[in-house]
Amino acid sequence: MTGLSSGAERGRGASPLSGASPTIVLGLQSADAAPEWAQALGEALPHARVLTDSADAPAADYAVLWRPQPGFFARQPRLAAVFAAGAGVDWLLNDPTLPAALPVYRIEDGGMAEQMAAYCAHEVLRFHYRYDRYEAQQRAGVWQEWPYASPASSTVGVFGLGKMGEAIARALTALGFAVRGYSRSPRALAGIECFDDSHGLEPFLAGAQVLVLAAPLTPATRHLFDATHLARLPRGAFLINVARGDLVVEEALLAALDSGAIAGAALDVFRTEPLPCEHRFWTHSQVRLTPHVAAMTVVSESACQVARRITQLGQGEAPSGLVDRRRAY
Ligand code: GLV
Repeated sequence: MTGLSSGAERGRGASPLSGASPTIVLGLQSADAAPEWAQALGEALPHARVLTDSADAPAADYAVLWRPQPGFFARQPRLAAVFAAGAGVDWLLNDPTLPAALPVYRIEDGGMAEQMAAYCAHEVLRFHYRYDRYEAQQRAGVWQEWPYASPASSTVGVFGLGKMGEAIARALTALGFAVRGYSRSPRALAGIECFDDSHGLEPFLAGAQVLVLAAPLTPATRHLFDATHLARLPRGAFLINVARGDLVVEEALLAALDSGAIAGAALDVFRTEPLPCEHRFWTHSQVRLTPHVAAMTVVSESACQVARRITQLGQGEAPSGLVDRRRAY
C-alpha cells in the first residue's frame, strides 16, 4: 500500500463497498472494446451492473477506463475507484479532471508481459543475428555472410524492471544475452546485473549494445533519453521503445540514427499517436515501427483482475496494482 487512502477509507460512493452488486461504468476510447469488457466483467461478477459511459448513465461505483471521453469524471461523481484498462496510467494521471483522491489501479501483467517479452526478443534477435541485414541483402540480391557473435557477447540493457521489464529481461537472459536492468530502487534478479538510481544512468547505458525502454512515463522519465543520454550508448547501439514515446526526445534519436551513432531503432510508441504521416520515422531506413501493439490488453485476463479487485475492495481488503500518485505509476 502507498500513502493513498482506499475508496473505503475515503468514503466516496454510496454503497459500493458492501460489494454485492456494484455498478461499473466503461469509459473506453474505442467503443468496439466495450462489449467484450462488459461480457467478461459480467461473467466474473454476475451481480454487477455494467454500463457504458454516456450523458445519462447513472452514477457508478467503479470505472474501467482507457482514455475516456472528455467530461467523464464530471458525469461520474460517485466513483470509489477506477481501473485503467492497461499498464500505463500517464494519460489518466495527466487528466486535470481526475479527482485528486480517487484511487487508481492499473493492470499488472494481465497477459501483456509475455507479449512485450516476445516483441523485444524478436527485435533483439533480429539485430544481434543480423537478420535485418540479410533481409536487406535478399532485396538487393546479395549473397554475403556475416560472422557469428555469441549472444553472451552482447549486453542488453532493460530500462524499467516492473512486471514488463522483468519479463523482457528474463526472456533475453534465457536467449543467452548478457542482460542488465535499471530500476528506480534496488532490485536483485538472478542472472541480471541490476542498476538503480544510486548508480545513475551512465554506467548502465555505457556498454549496452541494445537499450530497451520499458519504464512508465513519469515526470522523472519524460525526455530522459535526450541527446546527452543517447550519446552514452556505445556507437552502433540499437534502441527498442515499448514504453511511451515521450521517454525519448524524438529529434535527438533521429539525429543519432542519421549520424550512425545509433544503428537502428524498433519503436512501438511515439510522442504523437497515431504517428503523423509526415513523421520521418515512417520512412527512415533504420527504423522499424509498429502501431502501439507490443502489449495489447487481454480483456479476459484484465477483467478477471478488475473483478478480483472489486471483490477485495468490497471486503475491505487492499488489492495490488494501486497507483502511487507521487511516483506516477
Ligand atoms: C499500453 O500501452 C498500456 O499501458 O497498457
